[in-house]
Amino acid sequence: MKVSVYIGCSLDGFIARPNGDLDWLPEAETGASQETGDYGYTNFFKSVDVLIMGRKTFEKVLSFGTWPYQNKRVIVLSRTLNNLPHDLPDSVELKTISPNELFNKLEEAGYQHAYVDGGVTIQQFLRDGLIDELIITRIPVLIGEGIPLFGSLRGDIKLKHVNSNSFMNGMVQSKYTVIK
Ligand SMILES: NC(=O)c1ccc[n+]([C@@H]2O[C@H](COP(=O)([O-])OP(=O)(O)OC[C@H]3O[C@@H](n4cnc5c(N)ncnc54)[C@H](OP(=O)(O)O)[C@@H]3O)[C@@H](O)[C@H]2O)c1
Repeated sequence: MKVSVYIGCSLDGFIARPNGDLDWLPEAETGASQETGDYGYTNFFKSVDVLIMGRKTFEKVLSFGTWPYQNKRVIVLSRTLNNLPHDLPDSVELKTISPNELFNKLEEAGYQHAYVDGGVTIQQFLRDGLIDELIITRIPVLIGEGIPLFGSLRGDIKLKHVNSNSFMNGMVQSKYTVIK
């Protein structure tokens, strides 16, 4: 199973302000423009058969009001949540499980492409050597402090740069694969 990260971050490496705010992300303000499309998100999302997200990202998504993932299988990781809101589709599941165990279970079940979301969650999967690909969209803004995309590691993780695309609004999207 391939495991990907697809995320937007500030040039100084944050995925949200300290309180979780995403107001500095252009999409959050204006929606996708004609020039930029959706930065390849729709095609990426179509290629994914399971989305794994941390509880904090899940709560942020819930705050948007409508569940955006239709019936895509979503696994929410948490040690503190006991249940999910009843109005979510059956495709959403809550689990307390290590990244390695989850990876093995999903692979055994035949999943082909997982999308991992949320800073702490991505960092755990990276540390456990489970991420294959990172698609990172750098927003041309410095926010000074916030929730970091990356964190401490057991050792260096070498990456291969696959490509970068820049958009008129200054966003730069780069794709890297992890050299294993
Ligand atoms: N810029 C972007 O594109 C983007 C994308 C995604 C998210 N975000 C933002 O990032 C923020 C959230 O990121 P974050 O780093 O704070 O947190 P996160 O990764 O979304 O969630 C962390 C939580 O996930 C749970 N968790 C993670 N791994 C687990 C495991 N193996 N087993 C059980 N539970 C596990 C824990 O929940 P419990 O505490 O319940 O145990 C942990 O506190 C939000 O503000 C969100 O909006 C931004």
